[in-house]
Amino acid sequence: MTTERGRFITFEGGEGAGKTTQVGKLVEALAASGRPVLRTREPGGSPGAEKLRSLLLAGGVDWAPQAETLLHFAARADHVAKLIRPALAAESWVVCDRFYDSTMAYQGYGQGAGRPFIAEQIRLLGIAPDLTIVLEVPEAVGLARLRQRGDDADRYERLDAAFHRRVREGFRAIAAAEPGRCVVVDASRDIDSVHADVIQAVRSRLGNA
Ligand code: TMP
Repeated sequence: MTTERGRFITFEGGEGAGKTTQVGKLVEALAASGRPVLRTREPGGSPGAEKLRSLLLAGGVDWAPQAETLLHFAARADHVAKLIRPALAAESWVVCDRFYDSTMAYQGYGQGAGRPFIAEQIRLLGIAPDLTIVLEVPEAVGLARLRQRGDDADRYERLDAAFHRRVREGFRAIAAAEPGRCVVVDASRDIDSVHADVIQAVRSRLGNA
């Protein structure tokens, strides 16, 4: 679906999977190999989308799941238009910490927003990652890493264990349904082993494109 000349890579996974660390290491590796690369994240990435991120993560509001889904897609529409498409058009590689699979996993599988409704939003968005790395950790490992971080939990992190189980199940189902785009990496290991698998996935799926 992507018609631009750059390459678009997303990282996905439940809480405490180590996405932020792995995004940083991949961006470093791509930059070291001389590629122009943009690091970004969701929800957020562009100024308009970052405003929506604050709203979405702050808590204190109980939106209907479909409304919450559309807020994520509103943020995403701005992010794609203002940052991702222009970067890809300028032949940059884009590495994004979470993208639309998070909406399917968290709002679809987790909050019950309706998967066909979300699938339709994905279709309307009109852009798909070239490669999605799904970092998978056992529940206990994810929770322990989250606690270690020690910062204030956001709205989603505060949801119960059953919610997070559904989210993990969602990511597994997404990866199984789209093996051409998604690679599942066992992220319970040390940082460098996980990074080596990420690099391997990028090489084998995207080559020197
Ligand atoms: P982060 O912790 O990776 O920065 O992500 C922020 C939270 O937002 C995380 O708990 C997952 C959640 N989220 C959704 O619920 N739906 C989405 O579409 C995205 C991008 C994130």
